[in-house]
Amino acid sequence: MNSKIKVLQEKIDQAHLGGGKQRIEKQHQKKKLTARERIAYFLDEGSFEEIGILVTHRTTDFGMQDEIYYGDGVVTGYGTVNGRLVYVFAQDFTVFGGALSETHAEKICKVMDLAVNVGAPIIGLNDSGGARIQEGVRSLGGYADIFHRNVQASGVIPQISAIMGPCAGGAVYSPAITDFTLMVEDTSYMFVTGPNVVKTVTNEEVTSEELGGASTHSTKSGVAHITSSNDIQCLEDLKTLLSYLPQNNKETTKALPYTLGDEKRAVLADIIPDNPNKPYDMHEVIGGIIDEDSFFEIHKNYAENIIVGFVRIGGKSVGIVANQPMFLAGVLDVNSSKKAARFTRFCDCFNIPLLVLVDVPGFLPGTDQEWNGIIVHGAKLLYALSEASVPKVTVITRKAYGGAYDVMNSKHIGADLNFAWPTAEIAVMGAKGASEIIFRKEIKAADDPTAKLAEKEAEYADTFANPYRAAQRGFVDEVILPEDTRRKLIKGFSMLENKEIHQPKRKHGNIPL
Ligand code: COA
Repeated sequence: MNSKIKVLQEKIDQAHLGGGKQRIEKQHQKKKLTARERIAYFLDEGSFEEIGILVTHRTTDFGMQDEIYYGDGVVTGYGTVNGRLVYVFAQDFTVFGGALSETHAEKICKVMDLAVNVGAPIIGLNDSGGARIQEGVRSLGGYADIFHRNVQASGVIPQISAIMGPCAGGAVYSPAITDFTLMVEDTSYMFVTGPNVVKTVTNEEVTSEELGGASTHSTKSGVAHITSSNDIQCLEDLKTLLSYLPQNNKETTKALPYTLGDEKRAVLADIIPDNPNKPYDMHEVIGGIIDEDSFFEIHKNYAENIIVGFVRIGGKSVGIVANQPMFLAGVLDVNSSKKAARFTRFCDCFNIPLLVLVDVPGFLPGTDQEWNGIIVHGAKLLYALSEASVPKVTVITRKAYGGAYDVMNSKHIGADLNFAWPTAEIAVMGAKGASEIIFRKEIKAADDPTAKLAEKEAEYADTFANPYRAAQRGFVDEVILPEDTRRKLIKGFSMLENKEIHQPKRKHGNIPL
């Protein structure tokens, strides 16, 4: 018996060594943790249960039968994060550079299947040289098996990818389908084809970091939702993100205990500048509404003219979509529409109520936007907010102009509660533009056209640059004092808690892509 136990122990010890001490040392030199160290840090202490530790590859080409590592380059299993069940896979760069073989893929698929069947999030810690080159199409088939599962699991359980090393070629498409992609600065990169292929095909000289580093994907492409300064921070960010999410699409996120107190926030009264064309930081409004320090921003440095992220309001997890007047005056454009639409759809999939803060002068004009399809991309946000059946609340802080008024969670597209501050301006367009069009003849005929324009502008502003026309029609439910916003929201979301909408049966809608 003892000798049999010894055999088992030896195998486990070997598995724990991955590709060996030297390669572990190399991983550390690159300021990267190993797959096992990452899992140990990520999960609650002692909670990890490994599945498939003794799996090995089946390849015999290129002498591979002599290079066998237990686990085959990926550590898979389950455990808890702050007491809640999650499934995890962590690619082990010390074994064939974490490259994905048929068996490596099978291990990932096994935990994905369990995650879906049980109803708990799946988190992938990616660190891989891509398809296992010695295996050819079997490895590619393994990727496709994972992609297919990613799609089937989409909207059923939260799927999160952390990119903690290379992620190239076909490997990028699993993270792309998952709900959130985190990237570690300086040590991770993602691209469909690397710098060498880029040079051959397009003659561009570009480094891995420029082409697909964390900074590139968090500012230019929007592929990364969150960037973290190192492995530890990335694992912390994952834990924080998970704290706002339910386990699956049948649950809601558990609210933290909260008793309604004095929810007045005087600070909110002084944020909107007297001059309606002066910017202010919508983060200040968010800060005055939410539970202290509860904002977890997504896509922080991408399409900054819109802000999205998770907060808690009265202990409840809420998704925020907010125009940001500090950037491009808060206009909607291609990237901000896509960013907000994707976030909205995530929240709707997982029963997270939505709060939309509106200060939008309209859509960004110009050939760049039109030729890049602002019509279709703007429609994504319109579609996503119209489709969302979770509790939806709107606060118009200042401008709500034109088609963007409709898009930004107006009453007409199904918002449950629409509030406006006294500073709100709800109109087809700004007073100057409107006057130039509708009073053109009058202005032209005037002795002093400039004075006439100013007079007409004031008249238009007086009529429409306020929330009262909308309130009279019931398009705004209530004009509220800014300092009362937090209390209104706590009570509103609480009132909407059991909201249910029954849609006609359909296979799925056809969101403009
Ligand atoms: N298949 C099989 N083995 C792979 C591999 C792959 N796709 N990618 C890396 N490896 C192995 C290497 O042979 C090396 O093995 P060793 O430890 O026995 O020497 C080990 O993983 C580490 O790779 P190395 O190249 O030394 O690491 P690096 O940090 O210098 O570079 C990469 C990492 C990912 C940039 C580089 O390995 C690479 O370009 N890999 C191929 C990527 C690719 O084209 N994949 C297929 C398309 S999806």
